[in-house]
Amino acid sequence: MKANVTIHRDFTISPVDDRLYSSFLEHLGRAIYTGIYEPGHPTADADGFRGDVIELVRALDTPYVRYPGGNFVSAYNWEDGVGPREDRPTRLDLAWRTRDSNHIGVNEFADWCKKAGTKPMLAVNLGSRGLDAARNFLEYCNHPGGSYWSDLRRKHGWKEPHNVKLWCLGNEMDGPWQVGHKTADEYGRLANETAKAMRLFDKSLELIVCGSSHAGMPTFPDWEATVLDHTYEAIDHLSLHMYFGNEEHDTLNYLAKAEKLDRYIMSVAGVIDYVKSKKRSKKNVTISFDEWNVWYHSHEQDKKILEGDDWPDAPHLLEDIYNFEDVLQVGGVLNTFIRRADRVKIACIAQLVNVIAPIMTETGGPAWKQTIYYPFLYASLYGRGTAMRAIVDGPTYDSAFGDDVPFLDTSVVRSSAGNALTFFIVNRHLTETLDLTARLDGFPAARVVEHIQMSHPDLAAVNSAATPNNVVPKTVSGSTVEAGVLTSRLPPLSYNVIRLSI
Ligand code: AHR
Repeated sequence: MKANVTIHRDFTISPVDDRLYSSFLEHLGRAIYTGIYEPGHPTADADGFRGDVIELVRALDTPYVRYPGGNFVSAYNWEDGVGPREDRPTRLDLAWRTRDSNHIGVNEFADWCKKAGTKPMLAVNLGSRGLDAARNFLEYCNHPGGSYWSDLRRKHGWKEPHNVKLWCLGNEMDGPWQVGHKTADEYGRLANETAKAMRLFDKSLELIVCGSSHAGMPTFPDWEATVLDHTYEAIDHLSLHMYFGNEEHDTLNYLAKAEKLDRYIMSVAGVIDYVKSKKRSKKNVTISFDEWNVWYHSHEQDKKILEGDDWPDAPHLLEDIYNFEDVLQVGGVLNTFIRRADRVKIACIAQLVNVIAPIMTETGGPAWKQTIYYPFLYASLYGRGTAMRAIVDGPTYDSAFGDDVPFLDTSVVRSSAGNALTFFIVNRHLTETLDLTARLDGFPAARVVEHIQMSHPDLAAVNSAATPNNVVPKTVSGSTVEAGVLTSRLPPLSYNVIRLSI
């Protein structure tokens, strides 16, 4: 099978916002407790944070981590997580039917972010609470001192403000499962008034309003239109979420779900443009895709906890064990975000540790990289700069999620320094090698630096504590550039990162 790609140095899509490689940690399952925080673990530091996990997160260079939820935030009292630990209440978390000791709260999380080389992106509770709790939380986090809430933070031991710039106005408020679920009008008004109050404190904040929980919601896309009608001038980004699964065990259809994602982004972009026109606004609202990942492997095993009456502490919830097939899916999703970098400015892989996550831990034991760690790592490392327009001419297939799905799925990024070009390519074909010919117009000095590849004879292959290196990338040879043309052979069902110097 052959495919031709053409790029030209002047044909760009948009700068890629570094925040496309952000992630998410929720008070859910073992994400926080025994994920990032496990006092007594052999690698734990003086604050109880696991050093092995910090090392794996640092390597990902994820710019922001969304916190504390997710569904959890909709019944969360942020005040429960601050002050002396011995005074913090243990609460029942209604979203995930578990108990939370509140031993980690916003101050500890901000400390962890510094250690992990990232920054917090916080969500306020617009489910069970509202404007007042949100503005107090903001003042507690960001005001230097000399006011009630900022002095309380100082008294708690954090003299410097956390200076959090990114704030989510609730989570999935369109979802009937959400504590404090609202209609679009109810939420739109509340979000707008909350945003206005938060901006009165600091107009430089970036505020994110909830879009639909997923493309299949019955209220999509009226939800977006109504919510934006209320909030357009007060907010900066609209939040979207999407999870992917291969319940049908149909690889080609599974990998075509990235097309569904593309259509979702473009439909929502259309609604944003509609509201912008309606309001005669000069402002551009962009998309914060602040939850995305593969999520389906753990559905069956989670039922017992989610339907039970045990209220356990830090149970094994949403612990998807990712396989090699999921590498291809995650690679395809990241390609979609890069190709839509003009509309999507923030994206958070959900989540980061243990809960549908690229990093897994054993309590008291090791931490390891799941298979999907790698495509996220490479996109974060080499996918920063400018997204290039790539014209693909190659074979396609028809899927349940749309026709003409290209077997060759690619995104191309020129580095911020302007000295590198990276092709991220998934060969979706089940059996055929793809002979790639890519014309690099305007890059006469292009040379191959490295071709990183992930392929595996078994789509179901996974990494585990005992076999952490079962599915890992390798460096391959054979890709060359001659006379401004890159040629490469990409095995069936493979994920590839071809790095060029230019
Ligand atoms: O990431 C897991 C859950 O998925 C989040 O809590 C919620 O926002 C979404 O439905």
